[in-house]
Amino acid sequence: MDVEHVENDLAKTLLTEQQIQDRLAEMAREIERDYEGHKLLLVGVLKGAVMVMADLARHLSRHVEMDWMAISSYGSGTTSSGVVRILKDLDTDIMDRHVLVVEDIIDTGLTLSWLISNLRSRNPASVEICTLLRKPDAQRMSVDVRYVGFDIPNEFVVGYGLDYADSYRNLRSVATLAPHVYS
Ligand code: PRP
Repeated sequence: MDVEHVENDLAKTLLTEQQIQDRLAEMAREIERDYEGHKLLLVGVLKGAVMVMADLARHLSRHVEMDWMAISSYGSGTTSSGVVRILKDLDTDIMDRHVLVVEDIIDTGLTLSWLISNLRSRNPASVEICTLLRKPDAQRMSVDVRYVGFDIPNEFVVGYGLDYADSYRNLRSVATLAPHVYS
């Protein structure tokens, strides 16, 4: 890892800052249409969703409330196991509320499957999912994802909230890492 210059650790840019922002603006228009006349609560899943949440919310011209959950899946490194623990729960009672879960990436879909059934048990008016990125495995999962920014190949990517060893979240683009980072 080049401790000074993030750019030196990148191999290939998958999505530029402009592509991400353009797509989030489109998704915001869809969300505004779909939730017209309804109060909307955005629920971000820490930590990866911080960037998507901040930018998506600012692309919306309507009122929204925002809340956060921190969950941890008992996975090792880059894989999730589907066994999930709540580290920080919502501050909001979501009963009868329209909830839109905001994620940076859905990979295996295990985290979200668990989260959605947890949220449904609290009797919200609706729960939908919005993710910037989706990997191929997630398309086979049983949970419907209402808003998808980009379907991406099964490569390990960082940036725009996504980390490797807790770094690279602050990149404005989404990219793959150069091999020297792993060695
Ligand atoms: C990432 C991402 C999702 C989850 C998706 O979070 O933000 O929550 O993994 O993986 P899955 O579809 O295979 O379950 P991560 O656990 O890396 O935590 P972080 O957001 O704090 O980086």
